[in-house]
Amino acid sequence: MTSHIRYDNKKLFVEDIPAALLAEKYGTPLYVYSSNQIAEQFRILKDTFDIVPNLKFLYALKANSNSELLKLISSLGAGADTVSAGEIFLALRSGFAPDSISFAGVGKTDYDLDFALDRGIGTIIAESDEELRAISERAAAMSKTANVSLRINPDVDARTHPHISTGLKENKFGINIRDAVGSARAAAKMKNIRLVGIHSHIGSQITEVEPFAEAVNSIREFLAKLSRDGIEVSQIDLGGGIGVRYKNALKDRLLPTETSEEPSIDLRTLAKVVKDGLSSSGYEILMEPGRFLTAESGILLTRVLYRKESSGRTFVIVDAGMNDMMRHALYSAYHQVVPVELGEKAFELVDIVGPVCESTDVFAAQREISRVDRGDLLAIMTVGAYGYSLASNYNSRLKPAEILVDKDYSRIVRDRENLEDLV
Ligand SMILES: Cc1ncc(COP(=O)(O)O)c(C=O)c1O
Repeated sequence: MTSHIRYDNKKLFVEDIPAALLAEKYGTPLYVYSSNQIAEQFRILKDTFDIVPNLKFLYALKANSNSELLKLISSLGAGADTVSAGEIFLALRSGFAPDSISFAGVGKTDYDLDFALDRGIGTIIAESDEELRAISERAAAMSKTANVSLRINPDVDARTHPHISTGLKENKFGINIRDAVGSARAAAKMKNIRLVGIHSHIGSQITEVEPFAEAVNSIREFLAKLSRDGIEVSQIDLGGGIGVRYKNALKDRLLPTETSEEPSIDLRTLAKVVKDGLSSSGYEILMEPGRFLTAESGILLTRVLYRKESSGRTFVIVDAGMNDMMRHALYSAYHQVVPVELGEKAFELVDIVGPVCESTDVFAAQREISRVDRGDLLAIMTVGAYGYSLASNYNSRLKPAEILVDKDYSRIVRDRENLEDLV
């Protein structure tokens, strides 16, 4: 796999531009994305899943909904997986055709449903019996018929972080697979609903094929039950969840090696599981990757503000905070943190923390890194997914700018906020 974020002559580059130059030009903290890395990730998916006939990828906007990234991803040929009227709006504005958009989410408001119906969105994914009735009512009021996919909860353990596990029966998502035949029967009778598919999303950052295989089996069994009831669908949506590697995004003799017990999903085996399990009956198969497309394309550049020694610990305080990138605060997520310029300085054990008034405002705890001082630049790696999209104004901090790089050309794709934006 080609990596478009790499060291060259001890300097970190995003495509053909030194990261230090970007920090100088646009300030820090700064999200920087590589457009060719996104294209590369899409190519990997397409090539690997080429063996599955009639398969389409819908990009999950929640991972990163910057509209310039969306334009790029729609131009590559993906559809869109959305969860709010806002995401539908962004997808349409960024070039996704209405019928290539699906709309999921456990708590869609009437406003959301009307918005989706009015815009002719491809599929609405229903997550409860009550929601099915609401979709039917809203569609009837607009004299429309809604294409609906039923989200089943297959009770599969995705073996990922509990906060991003969604396919267990105790999770709020989808309709319990035991009750879902009844829901499908009811849906099939509703006048303003066309039941077109079955949907399942079991979690995010999944690094093993087995949970997907279990979900595929559950879906097959479920489809057989539906068939016995005379209900046929044409679409199977397997959701998102393909995991990425967070450790050793960059390797160099001047970087500490990150001990990696990190499992990595075998995409070829996954593609085979999908093909063998589902493709024989001519279904249209959908997958909704978010993280896989954007995570590795993004870095967060941040400058060291201070060093502080306290009770035997060394804190490196940087100008990015948990409001800019909260994955560590939310899920204790691991991100490699590297110097923008490599030096021969000795490694030391430090806590890399932000300025926010929370003890969870940490990017790396007790992490080995070569010594950095006030003014030095660091890059937090693999933040292109669930980075900016989770950012907030907590502590009335201004959200950072976002920059998109294509070879030797960089441009602002979202301005840094200014104080007036807080009012
Ligand atoms: C319904 C649905 N589809 C797709 C995704 C994208 O998941 P990922 O970014 O792990 O691919 C999510 C994420 O939570 C989701 O809830």
